[in-house]
Amino acid sequence: MKYIRPKGTRDISPPESFKKSWVEEIFRKTVGKYGFCEIFTPIFEHTELFLRSTGESTDIVTKQMYTFTDQAQRSLTLRPEGTPGVVRAIIENSIKIPARFFYIGPMYRYERPQKGRYREFYQLGIEVIGEASPEIDTEVIEIGYQFFISLGIQNCSIEINSVGCPECRPKFRYELLDFLADKKDQICYDCKIRLEKNPLRVFDCKKETCQKIYQSAPKVRNSLCRDCANHFTAVTIGLNERNIKYTINDRMVRGLDYYTKTAFEYISSKLGAQDSLGGGGRYDNLVEELGGPKTPAIGFALGEDRIILVAEPSKTIIQPKLIAIIYLSKKELAYSKELATELRKAEIPVYLNYELKKLRTQLSYADALKASHAIIIGEDEIAKRVLTLRDMASGEQQTIARNEIVKKLTDL
Ligand code: HAM
Repeated sequence: MKYIRPKGTRDISPPESFKKSWVEEIFRKTVGKYGFCEIFTPIFEHTELFLRSTGESTDIVTKQMYTFTDQAQRSLTLRPEGTPGVVRAIIENSIKIPARFFYIGPMYRYERPQKGRYREFYQLGIEVIGEASPEIDTEVIEIGYQFFISLGIQNCSIEINSVGCPECRPKFRYELLDFLADKKDQICYDCKIRLEKNPLRVFDCKKETCQKIYQSAPKVRNSLCRDCANHFTAVTIGLNERNIKYTINDRMVRGLDYYTKTAFEYISSKLGAQDSLGGGGRYDNLVEELGGPKTPAIGFALGEDRIILVAEPSKTIIQPKLIAIIYLSKKELAYSKELATELRKAEIPVYLNYELKKLRTQLSYADALKASHAIIIGEDEIAKRVLTLRDMASGEQQTIARNEIVKKLTDL
């Protein structure tokens, strides 16, 4: 039997895995500058958590969850997103507030796989718990923006909107229902259900026929209460102050139920249909909804797989330094082992194969292990106290004095 990976999952090996580590390193550095600490939460949680937070009327909960029953008949779900787990962890462990956490890890959604959309995908996320100021909203948006700059990602635009709060949303809900009252037979079956459960969710519909109708629907932003409207204005002022360009997208409501006030997305023009590099927003009621005290919060999650698709790191990232030591006969093995020890002491990664093979075979091994360079050692080299250094990409070779090799490799 031939085993293949489940649809929508991927195996990530070099050079893509090098790129992934690099993206994560820059993410850690970026969020570290703003005081975020890492949090690890379980990859599966009680299903109920996602029903209460992500929302029972969302596409994620109604269509995309990987839910299973464990041996004790509990209903568990592979996390489709990171926010509910982080909030649950904060409440359950009575973590002091304000808290700033980041996470990196796999998420699971049963979606139709295509470029940039997978069933197992990775998110890089941050959550700020316990801060209400619109300044934080702009800071959170800035963090994503700075991160994309550090990765050298261009063509990334920021879209923002406000989705209001439980105070102003009923008014909008009423206006939307009124607008759609005579259009019910023109919208799809899913939207009819959305209309009954949570009318705002109709904007998540991907069908062109529905989207056309919603183009002229009322806008949430026109129904905001004074507090939400002031908050939104302050966020836009903050973004202007920080020189962060954005556009206001009145149709963006984000596909999750917990958002209040600010909602935003990072969009890449290089991605095609799945163009959202990440998104987030404020969720001032979720902590309370999940049993904690009333606590404002905001965060985002970025799609790591999509970031890897658009980021173009330098050659040294895709091809990190690894030196393969190649020896031409058994006599040079002891000498090669000594050299390997010396290089590793100097923090230089070394690959040494202990089974003597032909030069060509050893070079092909070095290539398979993604070595950047090879050091070739024969009787001649030992006698002359030199080493032959080969650039694995170009095939160029040069002779280096034995006592200068550490410096030479360190400077590469
Ligand atoms: P989300 O918009 O559902 O938000 O997901 C955030 C990002 O994850 C998307 O913009 C996209 O880049 C990536 N993503 C989502 N689904 C897939 C997929 N199937 N394949 C590849 N990438 C995908 C959230 O998850 C919220 N928890 C964000 C948040 C944090 N809001 C507040 N705090």
